Amino acid sequence: MILIVYAHPHPGHSEANRVLLDAVSDVPEVKVHSLYHQYPDFAIDVPAEQALLEQARLVVWQHPIYWYSVPSLLKLWFESVLVRDWAYGDTTALAGKDCLWVTTTGAAEAAYSMSGKHAHPFAAFTPAVEQTARFCAMNWLEPFTVHGAHKIGDAALAEQGQRYRERLLTWLADHGSS
Ligand SMILES: Cc1cc2nc3c(=O)[nH]c(=O)nc-3n(C[C@H](O)[C@H](O)[C@H](O)COP(=O)(O)O)c2cc1C
Repeated sequence: MILIVYAHPHPGHSEANRVLLDAVSDVPEVKVHSLYHQYPDFAIDVPAEQALLEQARLVVWQHPIYWYSVPSLLKLWFESVLVRDWAYGDTTALAGKDCLWVTTTGAAEAAYSMSGKHAHPFAAFTPAVEQTARFCAMNWLEPFTVHGAHKIGDAALAEQGQRYRERLLTWLADHGSS
């Protein structure tokens, strides 16, 4: 099973993530799990989340970038679900599972450079999320990022949706029906 842990704080207002999600939601074995739908009060059901994760072979974390990081409910999810002696320590329930980080940014890629508006390449903001996965002994896959999500236009966005779909289909082809 491919579990997409989707963390959009305002899913009804999403443009970019909605297009991406629509492009992959009918891929075989994909389960979309929208955290902000499931937990509007931020009261995360930790055993239920862990049970879902245990069934997955590929875990996708998909969200818009908020303040160079993950939206707050996903951060709380990291803190509550990925706990000692389940995710790391005596038990490593996620060991060997693949992890794909799928994000959209408002800023164009050029703004993520030393001389750009955000003063750092986008890769400077990825280590905390990457290391969260690696600390849980997951396999970190090449992240999937859509920059300038506000301005790229419908056609380019649809293309990104297809690129995302291809990523998941290729992963499935490489991993059989595990
Ligand atoms: C609170 C907040 C913080 C944001 N922080 C960033 C940021 O740090 N970097 C960035 O490029 N875009 C930032 N954005 C823009 C979002 O990433 C962008 O609106 C989103 O990726 C578009 O996807 P959507 O159409 O699915 O909402 C922020 C937006 C909001 C509302």
